[in-house]
Amino acid sequence: MSRLANKRALITGGTSGIGLETAKQFLAEGAQVIVTGVTPAHIEKARIELGNDVAVLQVDAVDLAAQQELARTVQDRFGSLDIAFLNAGVSDWRPFETHDEASFDRLFTINVKSVFFLMQSLVPVLANPSSVVLNSSASAHSAAATANAYAATKGAVSALMRSWNADLLGSHGVRVNAVSPGPIATPLYDSIPAEYHQVVMDGIRADIPLGRLGEAEEIAKAVVYLASDESRFTVGADLVIDGGLTVF
Ligand SMILES: NC(=O)c1ccc[n+]([C@@H]2O[C@H](COP(=O)([O-])OP(=O)(O)OC[C@H]3O[C@@H](n4cnc5c(N)ncnc54)[C@H](OP(=O)(O)O)[C@@H]3O)[C@@H](O)[C@H]2O)c1
Repeated sequence: MSRLANKRALITGGTSGIGLETAKQFLAEGAQVIVTGVTPAHIEKARIELGNDVAVLQVDAVDLAAQQELARTVQDRFGSLDIAFLNAGVSDWRPFETHDEASFDRLFTINVKSVFFLMQSLVPVLANPSSVVLNSSASAHSAAATANAYAATKGAVSALMRSWNADLLGSHGVRVNAVSPGPIATPLYDSIPAEYHQVVMDGIRADIPLGRLGEAEEIAKAVVYLASDESRFTVGADLVIDGGLTVF
C-alpha cells in the first residue's frame, strides 16, 4: 500500500494511542514520519515499535518555544512537510464543580494554545499543497456530563480547523480537516481521577449505540484518508467517528 508514498508527515502525540497507531498506518502507506511525545517511557516504547527510520522527539506541548523548535527540526529533516496530524492532547473529565484554574489552564494550554502556536510555526514549513488534520472530539459536538472544559477545548480545535482554511487554503494550499472521535480505547482514560473513573467509564459505554468503545485503528484509517490525496477535494470536514454517539 502506498497511498502516502513520498509524503513527509509530522504526528504530535505519536507515542501512544491514536497517534501511535496513525504513525504505524502512515509508515505502512509509505510516508516518512516524525512523531512527538513527552513521557520518556512512551518515547522509548514508540522508538522500538516504530523503528529506526522514525524520529521520536520529546516535545512538551506546554512549552511554546519547543513548538517553534519543532518546526525548525521538521524543516531541517524534511525540508518541507506534506502532512501534519496535530493530535497531542489530554483529557480531564470531571464534575464541572471540581475544576479549578490550574486544571482549566492545563487543558487549554495543551489542547488549544500549543496547537495554535505549533500551526503558526509550521506555516512556512508546510508544502503547497499539504494536508493538516486536527484531532478534535465527539465531545465538541455533544453534551456529556463531566466533559465540560475538555469539550470546550475540542470545540476550539474544531473552530480553528474551519477558520485556518480561510487563512491558509488560498494563500498556502493547506487543506485543514479534523477527526472527532467518540470514546476510543486508549490510555487517555487512565488520567481520569480514580474516584471518578468508574462513573465516567460506565456513563461513556452506556451512551454508545454500538455498545463498545472504538479502536485507535478506526480513527487512524480516517486520518490516512484525510492526509492522502484521495481527500484532495475535502476541506473543512470534521469527521465524527463515534459508534453513533452523537447521531442519536
Ligand atoms: N481516546 C479517546 O476516546 C479520544 C476521543 C476523542 C478525542 N481524542 C483525542 O485524541 C488525541 C490522542 O489521544 P489518545 O486517546 O490517543 O490518548 P493517549 O494514548 O493518552 O495519547 C496522547 C498523546 O498525546 C501526547 N501528549 C500528552 N500530553 C502532552 C504534552 N504535554 N506534550 C506533548 N505531547 C503530549 C502523549 O505523549 P506521551 O505518551 O509521551 O505522554 C501521547 O502521545 C487527543 O487529542 C485526544 O483528546 C481521544
